[in-house]
Amino acid sequence: MTTIQRTAVITGATSDRGIGMTTARRYAREGWAVVILDLDGEKSAKVAADIGNEFNVPAFGHAVNVTDEVSVAAARDAVDTEVAAGNLPAVGALANIAGITSPVPFLETTLELWNKVMAVNATGTYLVTRAFLPGMLENKWGRIVNMSSVSAQRGGGVFGKVPYSAAKAAILGLTKALARELGDSGVTVNAVTPGAVDTNIRVGTTPELEAAIARDIPVGRTASTEEVAAAITFLSSEDASYLTGTTLDINGGSHMH
Ligand SMILES: NC(=O)c1ccc[n+]([C@@H]2O[C@H](COP(=O)([O-])OP(=O)(O)OC[C@H]3O[C@@H](n4cnc5c(N)ncnc54)[C@H](O)[C@@H]3O)[C@@H](O)[C@H]2O)c1
Repeated sequence: MTTIQRTAVITGATSDRGIGMTTARRYAREGWAVVILDLDGEKSAKVAADIGNEFNVPAFGHAVNVTDEVSVAAARDAVDTEVAAGNLPAVGALANIAGITSPVPFLETTLELWNKVMAVNATGTYLVTRAFLPGMLENKWGRIVNMSSVSAQRGGGVFGKVPYSAAKAAILGLTKALARELGDSGVTVNAVTPGAVDTNIRVGTTPELEAAIARDIPVGRTASTEEVAAAITFLSSEDASYLTGTTLDINGGSHMH
C-alpha cells in the first residue's frame, strides 16, 4: 500500500458517472485518503467506504449542503474529528466540485433560480474553502481546486446559460484573488474550466444536439470524467507547486484564449 500522507476533500462526489466521484476515485488511486461531502450523508458514507475498500485508503463521507454555513462547519468539524482520532491524515487538498446548471433562457429565469445557482456554485465554493483553509495554512501546504466551466469564458452554452455562466465566472475571480492573497503560504488555488463532459448532465439530450456539440469541439468529442479528474489531481500534486491562480482549460479546443 502507498504511504498515505494527506487527505483530499471532494464536494459533489456521489453522482454516478459524475466528475466528483471519478475525481475522488482518482485521488484514492494516487494514494490520497479521501473525504466525500455531498447532500446525502448516507450515500456519501457509502461512496467513501466503497472507494476506501477498492483502493485501500482511509476514507470518510459526510453530508454537506455547500450553501449552508452551519452544514459546512459541521462537515468540517466531523473531518477534523476523524483527523484528530488518527483515522485520516491532515487535509491537503480540497476539490470544490458540487454544482448545478441553469439550462434556461435568460427571460425565463427567476430570481429564485439565479440565487440557487449562485449559492451552490459560487457561495458553496466560498464557504467550503473558508472552512478548510485554516487547517491547510496551519500545515503550510494545501491545494484548492475550484470547478468553473468553459461557460464562464465563452458565455454559456447548451447546459449553462446566464446564471450558471455568471456563477462559474465568480469562481474564477475568487480563485485568482485568493491565490494572490495566499501568496507564499504553501497553499495554491487553481480552477478547471471543462467544456462538455460525459456525465448524467447529458441524459435527455438528443443525438442531433450531441452531434452539434461535438462539431463545435476541435477534438470531435466530449471529455471523459477521467480526463477532468486527471487535471484536478495534477493541480493537487507536489509537481503543481508553481501553479496558482491559474485555470486549466479542459475543453478539447472548444475555447482558446
Ligand atoms: N458535465 C459537464 O459537462 C460539466 C462541464 C463543466 C463543468 N461542470 C461542473 O462540474 C461539476 C460536476 O458536474 P457533473 O456533471 O459531474 O454534475 P453532477 O450533477 O453529476 O454532480 C453534481 C454533484 O453536486 C452535488 N450537489 C448539488 N448541490 C449540492 C449542494 N447544495 N451541496 C452539496 N452537494 C451538492 C450533487 O448531489 C452531485 O453529486 C459541477 O460543478 C458542474 O457545473 C460540468
